[in-house]
Amino acid sequence: MTDNRLAVIVLAAGQGTRMKSSLPKLLHPLAGMPVISHVLATARALDAAHLVTVVRHERDRLAEVIAADLPESIIVDQDDVPGTGRAVEQAVDALPADFEGDVLVINGDVPLLDADTLAAFIAAHRASAAAATVLSAIPDDATGYGRIIRSAQGGFDRIVEQKDASAEELAVDEINAGVYLFGLAALRDQLARLTTENVQGEKYLTDVIGLLRGAGSEVSAVALSEAWIVAGINDRAQLSETALKLNALIVRGWQLAGVTVQDPATTWIDMKATLAPDVTLLPGTQIEGATSIATGAVVGPDTTLRDCEVGENAVVKRTDATLAVIGAGASVGPFAYLRPGTVLGSEGKIGAYVETKNATIGAGSKVPHLSYVGDATVGVGSNIGAGTIFANYDGVNKHRSEIGSHVRTGSHNVFVAPIRIGDGAYTGAGTVVRKDVPAGSLAINVAPQRNMDGWVQANRPGTDAAKAAETSGD
Ligand code: UD1
Ligand code: CA
Repeated sequence: MTDNRLAVIVLAAGQGTRMKSSLPKLLHPLAGMPVISHVLATARALDAAHLVTVVRHERDRLAEVIAADLPESIIVDQDDVPGTGRAVEQAVDALPADFEGDVLVINGDVPLLDADTLAAFIAAHRASAAAATVLSAIPDDATGYGRIIRSAQGGFDRIVEQKDASAEELAVDEINAGVYLFGLAALRDQLARLTTENVQGEKYLTDVIGLLRGAGSEVSAVALSEAWIVAGINDRAQLSETALKLNALIVRGWQLAGVTVQDPATTWIDMKATLAPDVTLLPGTQIEGATSIATGAVVGPDTTLRDCEVGENAVVKRTDATLAVIGAGASVGPFAYLRPGTVLGSEGKIGAYVETKNATIGAGSKVPHLSYVGDATVGVGSNIGAGTIFANYDGVNKHRSEIGSHVRTGSHNVFVAPIRIGDGAYTGAGTVVRKDVPAGSLAINVAPQRNMDGWVQANRPGTDAAKAAETSGD
């Protein structure tokens, strides 16, 4: 049910300087989604009456993601006054004039924060008389975070940023998580009083806390017992630490849902993947994008699947696959490379050292060894001989090959597309198929073999080959 007294503001305007990246910080991928998308999903789950996201740095790229993930959010462009305080000031101005209630502010770079934690935080604030509540935590390393400064009596007094803190303040281990709940009226009053008089020359949202206290309002800090929930991403080291933690949570979630994950440390699963009970993931496996894997399938070791669909009981080993569909009971790999548009039917096989692209390979059909299948359709129950190349490219254009059902092609064939091979046809070993083959025909175009008797003894006298030929019983 929509919480009519709640507005959520997501801060996403910062530059992310510490990432040292041409990609905006909040668009760096984390478990297959931009960092900001995790926060937007959490914001959405709160079902607030109003959502505002503040952008500035690379605003169009951020706005595109926000419009896709959280279309109900108002997008506000921060002007050139820097700082989280200015961002919130502009966001508050964008709220409908008749809105009354609480304003939840979340930094866009705390992707592990979940809606349950926020719901408990909102409830704690509403049960108190505080004008503002701040989420705090005690991480192993407080470096970089704003510190929660308490009075001698233990009450929460103000927040001091790392760069503005004295040595004594830096020794404080309780940090500001970047998550705040304010009564709208109190917030409005204090935002108007923020200045940029600090080391970074920014309007700090965190200064609102000290100002509220100075005006005699009560503020409280709710401490989280697990600091990882509010880990902020400022640099790439923090990005990888957060990715590791998130992956551990995702893997565990699937394990508890019935998936065997033999080695969680080397198995990476994106947020959007779906796995059925009794799927087995072997070591060194990455399940990326919106990949789905049906029950009984065994994937790995050393396999990467991106946006793939794997059917029941399929076996996929040592394979790299993108946008491929693998049928029930099919077998893929080892060392297979499935490119977009590969569709393998049930009980089919794409074997060792085989590359496929835009290829539909029917039920029970097999491409077992050392082949390239590009821009092709293969019917059902066919077998493509070892070392076959579908020559799809004439140097300018790509063409298709159509192979029928129950076809048997010989080893080391080349199918020069466009080409059709009819149902039940055969081809001889080493055939370069340049003309269509009618159903039921055998195609051969290899020159007849000629044996020149005694050639080696005559032309390579004295060699080991010649000696072997002389002493041969044949
Ligand atoms: C901020 C807090 C710090 C807290 C930490 C928690 C302030 C002044 N400091 O520091 O107390 O411990 O988060 O992770 O708020 N942003 C804007 N507009 C701006 C600047 C930033 O929208 O002008 C956004 C950023 O995109 C980011 C968020 O605000 O999503 C936080 O900004 P960041 O620069 O990362 O703040 P921290 O230095 O981490
Ligand atoms: Ca930050």
